[in-house]
Amino acid sequence: MSESDKPPKFAPIQVQLEAGKQYYWCRCGLSKNQPFCDGSHKNTGITPLAFMTDESKSAWLCVCKKTDKAPYCDGTHNRINRENGYE
Ligand code: FES
Repeated sequence: MSESDKPPKFAPIQVQLEAGKQYYWCRCGLSKNQPFCDGSHKNTGITPLAFMTDESKSAWLCVCKKTDKAPYCDGTHNRINRENGYE
């Protein structure tokens, strides 16, 4: 597999979340505004995850889309990156 054929290396994105504000986490992986939805999921059958928090806080949101704690990173990207040949 050449480097250009290699899947992307995933890493979560740290964001500042405001209490009570509605966010839409991208579930499809196509958004150009990761980790948030930009509408690119249209016609995929996938919809974004709407969420909000009770307190303003910094959080790491999932970008690999395989987390079991959506929208938050649970470390699954480390396994995916290893499987895709990244150290
Ligand atoms: S762009 Fe991915 S869920 Fe909307």
